[in-house]
Amino acid sequence: MNENIIIVDFGSQVTKLIARRIRDFGVFSQIIPFHSLKEETFKKKNVKGLIFSGGPSSVSNETSPQIKKFIYKLKIPILGVCYGLQLICRDFGGEVKLSNEREFGKTKINILKDSPLLKNAYNIQHQYKVWMSHSDKVIKLPEGFEVLASSINCSSVIIQNLKNKIFGVQFHPEVVHTQNGEKFLKNFIINICGCKQSWRMDKFKNKIIESIKKEVGADRVLCALSGGVDSTVTAVLVHKAIKDKLQCVFVDTGLMRKNEVEIIKKLFIKNYNISLDVIDASKIFLKKLKGVTDPEKKRKIIGKQFIKVFENYSNKKLDIKFLAQGTLYPDIIESLSQIGDSKVTIKSHHNVGGLPKKIKFKLLEPLKDLFKDEVRKLGKELEISKDFVNRHPFPGPGLGIRILGEISKKKIKILQEADSIFLNLIRKHGLYDKIWQAFCVLLPTKTVGVMGDGRSYEQICVLRAVTSVDGMTAEAYKFSNNFLEICSNEIVNKVRGINRVCYDLTSKPPGTIEFE
Ligand code: XMP
Repeated sequence: MNENIIIVDFGSQVTKLIARRIRDFGVFSQIIPFHSLKEETFKKKNVKGLIFSGGPSSVSNETSPQIKKFIYKLKIPILGVCYGLQLICRDFGGEVKLSNEREFGKTKINILKDSPLLKNAYNIQHQYKVWMSHSDKVIKLPEGFEVLASSINCSSVIIQNLKNKIFGVQFHPEVVHTQNGEKFLKNFIINICGCKQSWRMDKFKNKIIESIKKEVGADRVLCALSGGVDSTVTAVLVHKAIKDKLQCVFVDTGLMRKNEVEIIKKLFIKNYNISLDVIDASKIFLKKLKGVTDPEKKRKIIGKQFIKVFENYSNKKLDIKFLAQGTLYPDIIESLSQIGDSKVTIKSHHNVGGLPKKIKFKLLEPLKDLFKDEVRKLGKELEISKDFVNRHPFPGPGLGIRILGEISKKKIKILQEADSIFLNLIRKHGLYDKIWQAFCVLLPTKTVGVMGDGRSYEQICVLRAVTSVDGMTAEAYKFSNNFLEICSNEIVNKVRGINRVCYDLTSKPPGTIEFE
C-alpha cells in the first residue's frame, strides 16, 4: 500500500501548497476537508502522518471547525500549521486567545531548542524569516508540550510533544517566503513520519491504469477532448486501460487554432489508434455568433452551443456508461469548499466549455489527485509527445474571445495565420517553454498603412505573451525588441488583412490574460 500523508483542510488559502511540497519529496499526499474525515479512510490507506492546515477561523469561536476526536486516538504523527497548532493546543488542554498583536506577513523567529523536526532547517540560537498570518495565540501550553521557537509577538511559534509525535507551527512553512520552510516540512515527513519517498509517476501510472480497468469492467467510456493537456492525458490513460472500449469526441467549433483539428486527429487516430469522432459544428457556431459583439454574449453562446452539440452526440451513445473527464486536484478542492460535503453529479469542465449538468453518465476522473505539472509528467510517462504535453493553455471559447467585435470566417482565417506565425517564431527562438501562454488578438479597428507604393487600410493584430504560475496573476513576457520586430514584419508581410502589430504590456491584474 502506498504511504500517504493526509492534510486536513481548515480552509487556508495555501493548503494546496502543502500537498505540492510533500509530493515533491516523493511522498503521496491528499487533502481532505476537516468535515469529510472518516475512520474507514485510515483503514484503507497507509497513513503515515497528518497535517492540520491553517484556516481563517478563530479557535476561540464556538462555531469554529473542529477535528473529529478519533484522529487523536490513531497515534499517527501530527503537525498543526497555524490554526492547526491552535486547535491542537486547545484540544490537549492548553489555552488560546484572540490577540491584539496580530502578525501578518514576514516575521523573525528565534530558535530556542533543538529537535529532529528542526534538523538542518533551523539552528538553535539563530533567527529566521518566516511568513505568518494569525491573530489568535497560545497563552498556555498543554501538558507534555514544549516550545522550540518564539517571535516578538508570539511565545510559542513552534511547539512539540516529541513523545507522542505531535507538533505545531504558527508560521506557514509551505510558502516560499518562509526561510527553510521546505526543509522543515521534509523533516516532519521523513524524520518524524518515516516516509520512504517512494512515490513516483511511473508507479502512479500503473496503479491508475489498474484502477480504471477495475472500475470500468466490461463497460464503455466516452471522453470529450478539448485539445488541452488534461483531456488528452485522460484519454490516453483510459485507452491504455480499456483499449477500444474508449470513444473520444472532439467538437470543432470552427474557433480553433490553425491545423488544430488535424493535430488532434494525428495524435489520437494515427499515433494511438483511438476511436475519435470529430463533430464539425463550425457552421452552427458561426451562425449563432453572427452580429454578436458583446464579449459575455459571445461566451454564453459558445458555451451553450457546445453543450447542445455534445448533448446531441451523447444522447445517441446511451450504451456508454462512463464519462471520462480531465478534472484536476485543484478543481476538486475548489468544488468541495464551495459545496461542503455534497457530491456533484457532473462538474462543469471549463476546458470543454462546461458539460451538461444532467447527463446520465458515471464520472471517471483519473487525474483527480494531480496538479497540472504532475499531469504533464504523467503525459511524458505515457509517451505523449513533449510538444503536446507542454502546450500552452487554450480557452474553451477559443478564437471567439480573441477576435474583438463581430466574428466572421474571414477574421478567423486572418487570426489563425497570424497566431501560427507568432507561435512558430516563439518556438524557433526557443522561448515557448519560458512562456505560460502566447497568442494573437485581432482588433476590430482598421488603421492606415503604406505597402509597396499603395495605401493600406487594414486590421491591427495585438501580440500577447505572459508568464504566470497558475493563470491567476500574470506579467507580460519581456521579448527583445529585435524579436518583436521579426514578428511584426513577418505577420504584416504574410497575413493579408493585417497592416499593424502591437505588443500588449499589461499585467494581470489589472488586465486579464485574454482580451474578452
Ligand atoms: P483570464 O483571461 O481570465 O484567463 O486572465 C486566465 C486563464 O484562463 C484561460 N481562460 C479560459 N479557459 N475557458 C477556458 O478553458 C474559458 O472560458 C476561459 N477564459 C479564460 C485563459 O486562456 C488563461 O489561461
